Parts: sequence; C-alpha cells; structure tokens
Amino acid sequence: MYVPERILTNDDLAHLMDTSDGWIRERTGIARRHVVSAGETTASMAIEASRRALQVADADPRDIDLIIVATSTPDHPMPPTACRVQDALGATQAGAFDLNAACSGFVYALAAGHQAIASGEHGQVLVVGADTLTSRLDWTDRGTAVLFGDGAGAVLLRAADGQAGVMATLLGADGSGGDVLMIPAGGSAMPLTHEALAQGLHYLRMDGRQVYRFATTALADAAEQVSRKAGWSLEEIDRVIPHQANVRIIAAAARRLGLPMERFVVNLEEYGNTSAASVPIALCEAVATGLVRPGDRLVLVGFGAGLTWASVALRWRGAPEEAVPSWYRVWWRWSIYQWARLRSRARRLARRATAALVRVAMRR
Ligand code: COA
Repeated sequence: MYVPERILTNDDLAHLMDTSDGWIRERTGIARRHVVSAGETTASMAIEASRRALQVADADPRDIDLIIVATSTPDHPMPPTACRVQDALGATQAGAFDLNAACSGFVYALAAGHQAIASGEHGQVLVVGADTLTSRLDWTDRGTAVLFGDGAGAVLLRAADGQAGVMATLLGADGSGGDVLMIPAGGSAMPLTHEALAQGLHYLRMDGRQVYRFATTALADAAEQVSRKAGWSLEEIDRVIPHQANVRIIAAAARRLGLPMERFVVNLEEYGNTSAASVPIALCEAVATGLVRPGDRLVLVGFGAGLTWASVALRWRGAPEEAVPSWYRVWWRWSIYQWARLRSRARRLARRATAALVRVAMRR
C-alpha cells in the first residue's frame, strides 16, 4: 500500500468550512485523511504500491502478464493509468488497462484478475486500486469534502494449488442509481466547458442519505451472498474487509449480518474513504498487524457509485516464505526500475527521432 505523507485532519477542515472534528468523527468515524502533494498522482501512488507488492511477493516485474488498475480518478482520461504503471515497473510482457467501478473497483478488478488466471490465459496478474478523489472535491461542500482521502493498494495474483486463494466472486450493478453519486462533467455527456467549470460540475456530487441506505444493504447482501457461493456459513468468516466509507455503514451491515464488529477490518479513522484503494489498504494493514493470518477465511466487499457492489471470498495463503527477499533480489528489482526509466526515455526519443526523419523524407 501507499498513502501520501501529507495529512489533513478534521480540525484542518474546520478552518476551511463550517464543520467540526466532533461532527465528522461522530457521523463517519473519520479523524484524518492523507492527501496528495504537488507532483503526486494516481499513477505515482499506484506505482509505489505496486513496487511494494512485488517486493512482498519477491516477483520479477517482467513476469507479470496483466496489470489492472481500478480507478475513477485516472491521471488523464487517456492513456490508461495502468500503462504508466506498466512502463514504470518495466513490466514488458504485461497487458494493461484501467477499470472504473468507482469504490467497488478493486474488488471488481480482483474478480477479473482471478478469472484471467483461472481461464489459464495468464500466470501473474497485478491488481491495483488507486484514487485521488481529493482532486475532484468541492472544498466548499462539507457534505462530501470531509469524507475522502487519497491512496493506493496492490496485490499480485498467481496461480497456485491447494485450498487457498479466491473461492467465490460476486459482481453487481444498478445503473438506475447513477445520479446519487456522480461527477457530472468531464465525460462525453457533458464535456468540460467554461460553463461546466463555473458551475462546479466537475466536482463530485452526492445524495449522502440515499448512498448511505444503499451501502448498508449492499455491503451486508454482497458479503452474505459470496459466503454462500463459497460454501461458508457467516460464522465461518474470520474477517470481513469492507470498503471504508463510514463506520456507521459498516456497523449497520454488521448488525444486519448478525456478526460482531470485531470481525470487520476498519481503518477509516486514519485514511477516510480512499475509493478503489480502501479495500487493498485495509487488507494490507490487517496482514501487517496480524489481524489476518494464513488460512483465514476473508470476505472483501466493495460498494459505490454506479451503483456498483462486488465481493470476493478468499482463503488467505500468507506471503511467500515470510517475505524476506535477499538483498540481491531487492537490488535486482531496483535495477529493473532504473532500466525501465531509461528504456521509457529511449523509446520516447526514438519515436520522436523517427517522426522527424519521416517528416524530412516526406518533404523531399
Ligand atoms: N459538518 C457539519 N455538519 C454537516 C456536515 C459536516 N461535514 N455535513 C452535513 N452536515 C449537516 C447537514 O447540513 C445537516 O444539517 P441540517 O440538519 O441543519 O440540514 C445535518 O448535518 C445532517 O445531515 P445529514 O445529511 O442528514 O447527515 P447524515 O447523518 O446523513 O451524515 C453523511 C451525512 C454524508 C456522513 C452520510 O449520509 C453518509 O455517510 N452517507 C454515505 C456517503 C458515502 O459513504 N459515500 C461514498 C460511498 S462509496
């Protein structure tokens, strides 16, 4: 996982708008969020999280077959952010694409990555969730600005034998609810014009209460249905790792499922809602703090704009060989990243030189 160093506390926000630390904590459970500084983007966070994932997996970036970056805040409408990740990692054998399923994106991408491996088509798939939603917030709207933060999380999927890994997946959507959480302008329906900008239509808009109602049922139902698909009873789930939108949403879903809150991984106090990054960041922290142990039955659940929801039931295998790669392997990966930077520059230069030569030849 990677989160920016810069922290915005509730008190910082109270200086910007009519809100308070007490209100935000009580209604959402959020105390702080990490936000990008100048020069940091969705791609730069995704690259750092991916490098850390490759380190834990002790993997060679050139062995990755596919990179999926789940994001609704790509660096640009095109090219895909996943291609920037591919280039920076030196993942020369990988295909790369972005997936937009808003806050459900990472869990959607995990299901897609699992299918890509299960089909036999791909051996190693890098799945990343990364978002910079603070770039799409109206900092005068206290109903949305207090909820979100930035970050990225990544996992490397590999084919393996045995009773571990992804056991069941579930994807859902209800496009009739598209208007309750949306960024109206910047797409083909409403291009970015001076008028759209003046009206702030490029910012995130939300009907908080409607989203809240949807989220509590979606979270509980998606967790319940995917467990059933995996052949598990609810009691058998060791941890639910839900999208981190609001602690009250998680508590309501826990009540609905009849599960104790301790079964749910919650870290939104520190990060707020990091959209597609929230589930992999929570997973990463849960593994690091020992909340998730090898053999555990996990249910990952995403929900968000679309409306979309997704869940994955998996048995946690544990990091390979206690995740302590030799200094040589660490150095080797570092050299691949340096080489990737040079390769990228050289290819850009070569492309420009070829274009210039073609122009000269055409003039003759
Ligand atoms: N600080 C202080 N007061 C605020 C506030 C803020 N940041 N945001 C809203 N309020 C005010 C409202 O203006 C309202 O005031 P009023 O009663 O004078 O009109 C009051 O607090 C209650 O507003 P309400 O919208 O009913 O609050 P709520 O308890 O529903 O909480 C959310 C609002 C946004 C926290 C809650 O609806 C929510 O979490 N929704 C889901 C959002 C979400 O998770 N989105 C992403 C999904 S991926």
